[in-house]
Amino acid sequence: MSQFQGLITHWYHQNKRDLPWRITNNPYVIWLSEIILQQTRVEQGLPYFQKFQQHYPNINELASADEQDILNDWQGLGYYSRARNLHKTAKEVVEIYKGVFPSTYNELLKLTGIGPYTAAAIASFAFGEAKAVVDGNVYRVLSRVFDIEEAIDSTQGKKTFELLANELIDKKNPAIYNQAIMEFGALQCVPVNPNCNACPLQFQCLAYQNKTITERPVKSKKTKVRSRYFVYLIEFTANKTIRIEKRKEKGIWQHLYQFPLIEFDSIEEKRAYLNGLKSDFISKEYKHILSHQQLFASFAIVNQRNETSESQLEIALSELSNYPIPRLIDKFLEDHVDRINELLVF
Ligand code: ADE
Ligand code: SF4
Repeated sequence: MSQFQGLITHWYHQNKRDLPWRITNNPYVIWLSEIILQQTRVEQGLPYFQKFQQHYPNINELASADEQDILNDWQGLGYYSRARNLHKTAKEVVEIYKGVFPSTYNELLKLTGIGPYTAAAIASFAFGEAKAVVDGNVYRVLSRVFDIEEAIDSTQGKKTFELLANELIDKKNPAIYNQAIMEFGALQCVPVNPNCNACPLQFQCLAYQNKTITERPVKSKKTKVRSRYFVYLIEFTANKTIRIEKRKEKGIWQHLYQFPLIEFDSIEEKRAYLNGLKSDFISKEYKHILSHQQLFASFAIVNQRNETSESQLEIALSELSNYPIPRLIDKFLEDHVDRINELLVF
C-alpha cells in the first residue's frame, strides 16, 4: 500500500459516517444511492434513498413503476432529469440485461444513464473492480495534495485527473479506497477553510506547502447563469377548481405540473405585465436558484380568463398533492395555502 493510500484509508476508518449504501454490494442499491447523491448532500439524500428502497426494492419494481409515482417520490430533490434517467436506465437493465446489472466498468458505461463516475462507483463498490471514482470531492483532494494547476473542467484536465486517480487507487481494496477519498473530500478537505492542522496529509500536501489551497481546484469556465422571469397564474374556475398543466418542453422540470405560466424576457416586461393585471393577490417575488439558472417567480391569483385548454387539467386544490410539482411552487403553497383556500370558499 502506498503512503497516500495508507493515510487516506486509515483516516477513513477513524472518521467515516455509517451510511446504508456502504454495507451492501448489491449493484442496484449502490446505483440508486449514487444517482440520488449526485448534486445532493448526504443528509438531504438519505431519506429519499430509504423511500426509494422501500417503494422500489429491486430493479424490476422500479422499471415497471409509473413515471408519475417516481417523480412524486423524487419531489424536493430537484434536478428531475435524474429521476427520469433513473427510470429509463432501470428499463434498459431489465430489457437488455434481464434485470441483472452488468458487472464491469466498460459494460456499465454502455447504459445510457450511466457515466464514468457512476460506472466506476458500481464497478468498484459492487464488483471490486479497481476503477477510480472521480467526483467533485476527488478533484478537490487531488488538485490540492498534488497542487495541480490544470483546470478540472477542460478535456485535458479531466484526463489528467482520471489518470492520476487510477494510478493512486488501491488495487487490492478499490471499494474502500474509493469511499475513503470521497469521504475525505466531503469531511476533511472541504471546499472552504479546510482544517489543515488536523489533516493527516498536511506534510504531503503540496497546495498546503505552496499556499495555493484557496486556488485549488482550478476551473476554466465560469458557468453562465441565465435569469428567467416567471408569472404563474392561479386561475379559479366557476366551480372553484384550479388549473394545472404538465411541462412538456425539455429543460427544467420536464413532466412536472405547474400553474399556467407566462415567461418574460426581462424584469421590466414582467413588471409592466403585473401592473396591468387584474388580480386579487400577487405574491412576493420568489427567487429560485438552479445550477445554471436563476428564476424570479411571482404568483397571481386571478379569475378565470380563458377556456381550459386540452393540455390543462381542472382539479380541486386538495388534489394537487397527487401531482409532482417543482419545489418552487411547493414553497409558494406552503406560504399561502390558507389564502388560496379562503378565496376558494368565498
Ligand atoms: N456521495 C456520492 N457518493 C457517495 C457515497 N458513496 N458515499 C458518500 N457520499 C457520496
Ligand atoms: Fe486538504 Fe489541507 Fe489536508 Fe491539504 S492539508 S489535503 S488542503 S485538508
